[in-house]
Amino acid sequence: MTIAAKPVDQLTLEEATAELARLAAEIAEHDRHYHGEDAPTISDAEYDALRRRNLAIEQTFPDLVREDSPSKRVGAPVSEKFEKVRHKVPMLSLDNAFSDEDAIEFVARIRRFLKLGADAPVIMTAEPKIDGLSLSLRYESGRLVSAATRGDGQVGENVTANARAVADIPNVLSGEFPDIIEVRGEVYMTHRDFLALNERQEKEGKQTYVNPRNTAAGSLRQLDSGITASRPLKFFAYAWGEVSEMPAETQMGMVEALASYGFSTNELMRRCETAEELIAHYRAIEAERGSLSYDIDGVVYKVDDLALQQRLGYISRTPRWAIAHKFPAEKASTILRGIDIQVGRTGALTPVARLEPVTVGGVVVTNATLHNAEEIERLGIKIGDTVTVQRAGDVIPQILGYLPEHRPKDAEGFVFPTVCPCDLKTPVVRDANAGGGEGVVRRCSGEFACPHQRIEHLRHFVSRRAFDIDGLGEKQIEFFFHDPDLPVKAPGDIFTLAERDAGNLRKLKDKEGFGTVSAQKLFDAIEARRTIPLERMIYGLGIRHVGERTAVTLARGYGTWAGFHDAALAVAEGDEAAREEMDALDDIGGAVIDAVATYFGEAHNRKLVEELADQVEVEEAERPATNSPVAGKTIVFTGALERMSRDEAKAMAERLGAKVSGSVSKKTDLVVAGPGAGSKLKQASELGIEVIDEDAWFDLVG
Ligand code: IVH
Repeated sequence: MTIAAKPVDQLTLEEATAELARLAAEIAEHDRHYHGEDAPTISDAEYDALRRRNLAIEQTFPDLVREDSPSKRVGAPVSEKFEKVRHKVPMLSLDNAFSDEDAIEFVARIRRFLKLGADAPVIMTAEPKIDGLSLSLRYESGRLVSAATRGDGQVGENVTANARAVADIPNVLSGEFPDIIEVRGEVYMTHRDFLALNERQEKEGKQTYVNPRNTAAGSLRQLDSGITASRPLKFFAYAWGEVSEMPAETQMGMVEALASYGFSTNELMRRCETAEELIAHYRAIEAERGSLSYDIDGVVYKVDDLALQQRLGYISRTPRWAIAHKFPAEKASTILRGIDIQVGRTGALTPVARLEPVTVGGVVVTNATLHNAEEIERLGIKIGDTVTVQRAGDVIPQILGYLPEHRPKDAEGFVFPTVCPCDLKTPVVRDANAGGGEGVVRRCSGEFACPHQRIEHLRHFVSRRAFDIDGLGEKQIEFFFHDPDLPVKAPGDIFTLAERDAGNLRKLKDKEGFGTVSAQKLFDAIEARRTIPLERMIYGLGIRHVGERTAVTLARGYGTWAGFHDAALAVAEGDEAAREEMDALDDIGGAVIDAVATYFGEAHNRKLVEELADQVEVEEAERPATNSPVAGKTIVFTGALERMSRDEAKAMAERLGAKVSGSVSKKTDLVVAGPGAGSKLKQASELGIEVIDEDAWFDLVG
């Protein structure tokens, strides 16, 4: 019997040593084939078996685990194997409603946006929000050609082989279908199948799963599609991406079409005419929730008419025409074991409750946010208390209060620290509130000297929505920050890692947690981000108040890195014209401008930014449509508009690449005036600016 075929528990120490060395080399070789130019030389199943054998030997002979063991490499082995795919049509997420009032306001907002008359109906659909994971399936000539997970909405993972193994997903469409159609929906697992699978896993001594959703996700992202096939996954179709010819004009019609192609669709979907009907259906679904065979976490409302959906459009990543009305949060009680202080990117100290692990709505909770010292005081909690924890959707769990009857005698009150938990023990200062008094936010005054702040800043920089560097997560940032041989103290240092490693005796590949393959992979991932879209660059800087959306606005407003950088420096120097120009950008106000000024007013930041900009190439911003007749123009809408609301007019103009301003100035190119227009119309004629009416606007933009 060769060693490779011998059961693990029969291996001698020498054989196990030799086998681990062979497996490390062999798996590294396959990784090279897979990620390099060559095609893989073994099947996913064989690769998976090698990794499993490696792990089994390591578990039996823990002393023999090699430094370069494949089990130690950075990043999840599962995701390493999936290639990335860019979605042709982004996969969006949904805005949330948490109350009936939110739902009513959602419908009212739609009516206002579309400028619908009081009795004009707006038909909506209501359907369960399935708690699974979304998947996009592309069919060409009726055949499944690719399947991708949502990922970050723009780029997902190619899981085609696994999707083909899901019995509930047709490989070939039935009936009459468009030549190209991307069908989107949710992969999930029923409660019964989840329990049966966990029982089986337990019997076989394998790891069990936490809840059906994680199980479904884990099952779909298996390297071996044979494993996916053995898992009873289900799929509900409810949306679509690219479609060559639309088979229907309504949401309901589309879902019926999807059903006719052979997909399962949800039978609880209804058409509703008013907010009240939507809420009534929400209550009905909520009442049925416990008897459904699968998990749901709310009800999704969508505008039925697809033409109206198009008019409503999107705000950033969520459609204006849909919302998820979530079910109320779930609660549980557990013991408060301690309170840790976390230091954020901007130095804010946040107390975090350390809890005895407890399952809340199917998820194990070990931490809860406590916001600030006042919150701890308000709750009156002491360490050792039994506390009530609430978890709503993806929101960080919260502590609602404690049970006085369970308070132990030795329960200890928490004293908020007056110095930063970092080694420097920098004093903690309190922000001012709006009235100039002491605010609730306590901050470490160490700024760039505080290692916590610097690490958090770097973590933000590599996070998914910023530079998104594969294999450079929170753990690795911490590692490099402290590593004496290849330190990363600022973002620019990331891009010199490979070069520094090349000239270094103590190379990354020899360090714990890395190997030849993973070090190379990391350098490749960094290299892949050396060219970066402008909005990601701006967002990655970690300027206070500059979130992802604001970064997009700034990027579109300035177009190029140089444009933004010059403007930011000018603002920091107190240049009024630069400030006004920034202020003219949509949704950018004093707080953002002040934050930009503070950031670029700091010599340390200017240096950090320059060093980074020297290392990367920043792409120009994706400008909105440039081939429209109003692209690049500044437009003012004034007076009553009859065919659309002011918001819709603005959104439409912006989609067409125009800038919409609230006031007429020399910079205005066009004024669209409706009945009742007053001073703005007068100003426009004084300045000799072109004025048109609403009909002419539609003629102009088609
Ligand atoms: S519609 C543009 N309908 O919820 C809207 N989403 O937060 C596309 N989801 O990523 C989504 N059930 O995975 C829609 N009936 C349903 C859904 C649903 C679950 C998930 C989906 C999406 C997330 C949005």
